[in-house]
Amino acid sequence: MASKDLLVYLNGEILPIDEAKVPVMDRGFLFGDGVYEVIPVYGGKPLRLKEHLRRLDQSLAAIRIQSPLTHTEWAAIFDRLISGAVDQQIYLQVTRGAATKRDHAFPVGIPATVFVMCTPIAPIPLNGIKAITVDDIRWDRCNIKAITLLANILLRQDAVDQGAAEAILVRDGQVLEGAASNILIVSGGKIITPPKSHTILPGITRDLVLELAHSLNIPTEERHLDVAELKNAEEIWVTSSTREILAIVELDGKPISGGVPGKVWKTLQSAYQDYKQAARFP
Ligand SMILES: Cc1ncc(COP(=O)(O)O)c(C=O)c1O
Repeated sequence: MASKDLLVYLNGEILPIDEAKVPVMDRGFLFGDGVYEVIPVYGGKPLRLKEHLRRLDQSLAAIRIQSPLTHTEWAAIFDRLISGAVDQQIYLQVTRGAATKRDHAFPVGIPATVFVMCTPIAPIPLNGIKAITVDDIRWDRCNIKAITLLANILLRQDAVDQGAAEAILVRDGQVLEGAASNILIVSGGKIITPPKSHTILPGITRDLVLELAHSLNIPTEERHLDVAELKNAEEIWVTSSTREILAIVELDGKPISGGVPGKVWKTLQSAYQDYKQAARFP
């Protein structure tokens, strides 16, 4: 995906990706000790930048890494890496840095490692995707956007192995979110999504979709969802910054909304595209 001459940011420098190197003692490499953000860019402008940087601050505070840059400094780095007006995504990662020895306890006086790259966004499947339900095997701090994604990776791979594109995570009978997305359903004419808590990532796209629904006078509800409700939903969607709103047209081998994206999805999809277009040409 990333071409050889892609320029990236690493610890204060802009350099070709092949020359960007981190020491093997970096705690991101040894422990997965860090956090990240993914921000979509339309018309050269990061979408919902303030919200993404606020969530980054929350993730950093939750794992007790002092914020290495101000919001203005982050924005200046993004401006240097965004190239042209094609749709792209910023990936940024902050780790606790490279210590001299491998020790679980925090090292003292070590600067954080800061990495940023900006790459094109992949095309989005507008005909919908297949998904499966799986038991959530993740930890109890899913509100932190941690780089430690082993459970998410294994769960997503379970979906891929079964010919599906996303795994829907279920814990104690409650439907929580996707392996890399939030979940929303349409039931009884309402858009319903699980409430924010330590069991889900507070998705920026989820919030935007709820906002767009309010502006369209479509009722929304943030409450717990059980598996039966999910399986009987009129429509199921998953949302994320780079995949926008994806309709799930098959769940656990059974068609959802007749096997095609539903009516309410079409309305929200159109509102979402208008919102992006307005961001491109304000
Ligand atoms: C576990 C998880 N939930 C939800 C999301 C969606 O968040 P956002 O809309 O901010 O991209 C993601 C995005 O990667 C994710 O990894």
